Amino acid sequence: MSADFAGETARLYARFRRDLPSDQAAELAAQLGLTADDLLLDLGCGTGQLTAPLLPHCAGAVAVDPEPGMLTGLRDRGLPGVVAVLGADTDLPQLGRVLPPLGALVVGNALHWTDEASALAAGAALLRPGGGLAVVTQGPPLWLGGAPWQQAVRAVLEQFLGPVTATCGSDAAALADRVGLLEAQGLTVRVSSWRADHPVDAAWVLGHLGSALPGDALTSGGLRQALEDELDRQTGPLVEQVLTTAVVARRT
Ligand SMILES: C[S@@+](CC[C@H](N)C(=O)[O-])C[C@H]1O[C@@H](n2cnc3c(N)ncnc32)[C@H](O)[C@@H]1O
Repeated sequence: MSADFAGETARLYARFRRDLPSDQAAELAAQLGLTADDLLLDLGCGTGQLTAPLLPHCAGAVAVDPEPGMLTGLRDRGLPGVVAVLGADTDLPQLGRVLPPLGALVVGNALHWTDEASALAAGAALLRPGGGLAVVTQGPPLWLGGAPWQQAVRAVLEQFLGPVTATCGSDAAALADRVGLLEAQGLTVRVSSWRADHPVDAAWVLGHLGSALPGDALTSGGLRQALEDELDRQTGPLVEQVLTTAVVARRT
C-alpha cells in the first residue's frame, strides 16, 4: 500500500511479515533448479522473507533493496553467506558485471515497484544455463482476504482511507503479464501455488497493517482505535489463509 519502506515501516516489516514457509521454499528451490553450489539474488529483498528460507538450498545470496532500513532488518538476522546490497532493479546490469552467473534470481512482492519488462529482462540475463527466475507473491494483501474478519478490517480501512483495492501484483492479470514477459525472454515458464493457514491475533494484524500503510496513517485520526474495536468484536479465531503464487522461469 505504501511506497515508503523507511523507518518504522521497515522495523514493522521485520516483525510482522512472514518468511516464505520452509516447505514452500524447498519446493520453489527444486523448481528453480537451485543447487548447493549456486549463488542466489533476491531483488527487493525487504528484510529477507525469501532470502532466509531459500538460503539452505544454495551456497550464498546477494540481497538487493533500495531501502536502507530494510537492509538493516535483513542484516540484523545475521544470516551467514548473505551480502546486503543497497540497489534496485536498475542496478542488475551493473551487478552482472561483478557477480558470477546466478543459480536463481527471485523477486518477492516487489516486482510491481519496478518497470517489470526491463527488470525481468535484466534478471534473466544474469542466470547461468539451467538457472531459474521466480516472481513470488504472498497475496492478496491481508485486507483483501475473504474471511469475515478480513472483510471487516477492509471496511474500517476504507472508512478512513477510501478504496484500498491495490493487489500489489497478486492478481490474475499481473500473473499473466509476467508469464508473457518471461516467455518473451526465451525461458520455460510454469506457475505454482501453495496455500497455508496462519492463525493471527489483533496485535499481529495491527503490526502488519503498520508495515503496509503510508507514514502515520495508522496512528493518526483514530484508525488504529477503530481497527482495535473491530477486531475486539470478532468472535471466532482469526486465521489468515495465504495463497503463495510463484511464476518460475528456467533458462534451458
Ligand atoms: C513489499 S516489500 C517485499 C519484501 C520481501 N521481498 C517480501 O517478499 O516480503 C517490497 C520491497 O521492494 C523494494 N523496492 C522498491 N522499489 C524497488 C526497486 N525499484 N527495485 C528493487 N526493490 C524495490 C522495497 O524497498 C521493499 O523492500
